[in-house]
Order: sequence, then C-alpha cells, then structure tokens
Amino acid sequence: MHLRPGHPDDIPLIMAIERLPTAHQFVGQWSEDRHRSTLTGTDARYFVSEAGSGKLRAYAILRGLSEDSGAVELKRIVVATPERGLGRQMLTELIQIVFEDLHAHRLFLDVYEDNARACHLYESLGFLRRCAARRRQTRRQLLQSPPDVDARKQYRARKTATAAPKAP
Ligand SMILES: CC(C)(COP(=O)(O)OP(=O)(O)OC[C@H]1O[C@@H](n2cnc3c(N)ncnc32)[C@H](O)[C@@H]1OP(=O)(O)O)[C@@H](O)C(=O)NCCC(=O)NCCS
Repeated sequence: MHLRPGHPDDIPLIMAIERLPTAHQFVGQWSEDRHRSTLTGTDARYFVSEAGSGKLRAYAILRGLSEDSGAVELKRIVVATPERGLGRQMLTELIQIVFEDLHAHRLFLDVYEDNARACHLYESLGFLRRCAARRRQTRRQLLQSPPDVDARKQYRARKTATAAPKAP
C-alpha cells in the first residue's frame, strides 16, 4: 500500500495538481472550500500518493460512501506527471480498497471520451463502458466495473492470477 488518506493540509497541492496543463482539460478545478467540505464530510474519501521526497504527486477521490447502494464512484484521479505507471498503481490499489475494505459491489466513474490515456487505463483494468451521455458535447461517458457480484469475482480472479506462482 502506498496511498495514504488525504488531509486538509494537502488541499493546496491537490488544487495545484488539478490545475496543471496535463490535467485541467480532463478534470474540474475545485475551490479550496469545496475540497475542504468534501474531504471532511462523510460521503467521500481522499487518497494521496507521495514521492520519496514526501512531496504530494497524485490524489484520488472516492465518493458515495454514505449511500447504501454498494456502488462507489471514483470521482477523480490525477497524477502530477502522467505516463510513468503511477495511475495504474494507484487505481489497482483503489480497486482493492473499494472491494476489500469498503465491501462495495461496484466501482464506477465518468470520463471524457477524448481522454484516451484514462480510458485505456480503466479498460485495461476491467472497467466496462456502460453508456455514453446523450449530449455528445459533454464529452462524457460512463465506465463501471462489471455488474455487481461479477465485479468482486473478477477482482478476486485477477488478484489470484497475480499472486499465483509463475512457471519456471
Ligand atoms: C489518467 C491518469 C490518472 C493516468 O495516470 P498515469 O500515471 O498517466 O497512467 P499510467 O502511466 O499508469 O498508464 C497510462 C496508460 O495509458 C497508455 N496511454 C498513454 N497515452 C495513450 C493514448 N493516447 N491512447 C491510449 N493509451 C494511452 C499508456 O501506454 C499506459 O498504458 P499501459 O500501462 O498499458 O502501457 C493521468 O494520466 C492523469 O492524471 N491525467 C490527467 C487527469 C485525468 O485525466 N484524470 C482522469 C479523469 S477521468
């Protein structure tokens, strides 16, 4: 595990990361108040990743935790320096948190259809396209883990396959 829970002191760097040129076209830029109320509320959890130097280099927000639906939303994931494998590492860990620690049945997210890097990453980790938004100009599409129990089965199968000893 390399993610740690986010803390209100992380908010300035979280705000800086989501405003980077590599991120701002794909994610919203929230105010400090909005981050603070979300982070300190009961419905969401923030997770952050730090570099060896201790500097914050990525964050993610899970949402929907106060609902009974068993469905958790990956509201946001942003890394400061893309394409170095950090997003995959974080998402793998977040999937584990969602299904093992939070006992959710489904993990879903909303992604712009022209966000090819993110779409590739999500689909390579088993997310399925559910439906595109009706208004194409929103650039949005929905991805989710496979339906309900299958999501947990698939997660466990992948985990077992990863843990299985490799043939010599
Ligand atoms: C999306 C994001 C979190 C992914 O994190 P990351 O650290 O860049 O991702 P990784 O390096 O682990 O993996 C990127 C994958 O996309 C692939 N990729 C890169 N550019 C691509 C493109 N144009 N088309 C398809 N795949 C692409 C890489 O090859 C890699 O796949 P692989 O592991 O199979 O080789 C990160 O890029 C980011 O913060 N983007 C800006 C904010 C954002 O879009 N957030 C998601 C909003 S839904």
